[in-house]
Amino acid sequence: MTTRILTGITTTGTPHLGNFAGAIGPAIRASQQPGVDSFYFLADYHALIKCDDPQRIQRSRLEIAATWLAGGLDPDNVTFYRQSDIPEIPELTWLLTCVAGKGLLNRAHAYKASVDKNLENGEDPDAGVSMGLFSYPVLMAADILMFNAHRVPVGRDQVQHVEMARDIGQRFNHLFGQGKEFFTLPEAVIEESVATLPGLDGRKMSKSYDNTIPLFASARDMKDAISRIVTDSRAPGEAKDPDTSHLFTLFQAFATPVQAQTLRDDLLQGLGWGEAKQRLFQLLDGQLAAPRERYHELLARPADLEDILLAGAAKARHTATPFLEQLREAVGLRSFRNIVQAAPEVAKKAIKSARFVSFREQDGSFRFRLLAADGEQLLLSRAFADGKSAGAVSKQLQQGGEADVRAEGLSYHLWLEGEPVAEGPAFADAQARDAAILRLRAALAPVEG
Ligand code: TRP
Repeated sequence: MTTRILTGITTTGTPHLGNFAGAIGPAIRASQQPGVDSFYFLADYHALIKCDDPQRIQRSRLEIAATWLAGGLDPDNVTFYRQSDIPEIPELTWLLTCVAGKGLLNRAHAYKASVDKNLENGEDPDAGVSMGLFSYPVLMAADILMFNAHRVPVGRDQVQHVEMARDIGQRFNHLFGQGKEFFTLPEAVIEESVATLPGLDGRKMSKSYDNTIPLFASARDMKDAISRIVTDSRAPGEAKDPDTSHLFTLFQAFATPVQAQTLRDDLLQGLGWGEAKQRLFQLLDGQLAAPRERYHELLARPADLEDILLAGAAKARHTATPFLEQLREAVGLRSFRNIVQAAPEVAKKAIKSARFVSFREQDGSFRFRLLAADGEQLLLSRAFADGKSAGAVSKQLQQGGEADVRAEGLSYHLWLEGEPVAEGPAFADAQARDAAILRLRAALAPVEG
């Protein structure tokens, strides 16, 4: 069975080394495993929740797309797309919005943090909170459920959102599945080892701490950042403890075990911090120089990036469009054409059983016919002087009166209380007549009005 892995990156910034090591790199490697079907996308609708600067949104989408590809993502091997190129996602968001409890969303950490902050400042609890922020987890649930992802690699802060996607998916399945599980319930996956990549000051590398190392900026910028890594004040020649050094932690995240061991030994032997920084720079530059070049090539050809992403969107919609159609059906958003199709079915059902039809002859007499379910005329009654007596006879037959069918030449007569009251049509041969008699008996057995 293939495992579907899905993750998105909100397009509000320029990826830094921590994003690359923590999310993009591991995701690219995961996509190269056998038995994996990966969906990676630019969460640009999510970006609108956090950012109202169109230039920045546009720039970030471009940079993040180029970063994935420069990092070695093969768009033929994965489904790589922009969230905003998949109209099924906002549509699914609405279907999910209608089943997601408001109380569930009230508990979302990001929303609660805003409310708490407002309360602290003596403001209205919802000051500055958009519906986008409030519904953020529903949009994310749509991202995940749309493609029935099994595993969703995310940072720790996003785990709650994946759990909400499970809740919402489960509720939809329960309400509309009729025993069918429309949605796979996803699981969050945290890359423990790399989620904690330290920044220049030793805290988690994050743009909000302003402690990042740039990823594909120039070698010079990277060198500058590395020179700002905070170390203790031990001089060259003094033994240094690698285990309390985030410079070492950073090095280790990119080094082979042998390279890490060498630096560890050398630090214990008194290697100077300046020297250690130089080694970190060389290690990173060695690994990033080639992708950096690819990155800048890609940025120089935005139209090609557009083509790649549109092809990815087409691939994603190949799954999303028919799936959403099923979901629309499930909630009752169905084509009226299917009702037209259903109508003859209803009619068929109604004439499943044989029926009596009475009529008046031109001479004023009354008769009835017995028509089989398929419309075949099984009986034509004799003429009655008035409708009442015709009705009485057909009623007797309907109520299972003692009717007697007798073959007569190539036809048959129906006798009731000692007299013939109706006759069958003429048949080509006795066999056809006898077959019709069987049909007549069957029709009379359970006749319904
Ligand atoms: N909210 C995620 C973040 O900020 C990005 C994201 C959007 C996402 N949709 C997703 C991640 C679906 C995983 C799955 O990191």
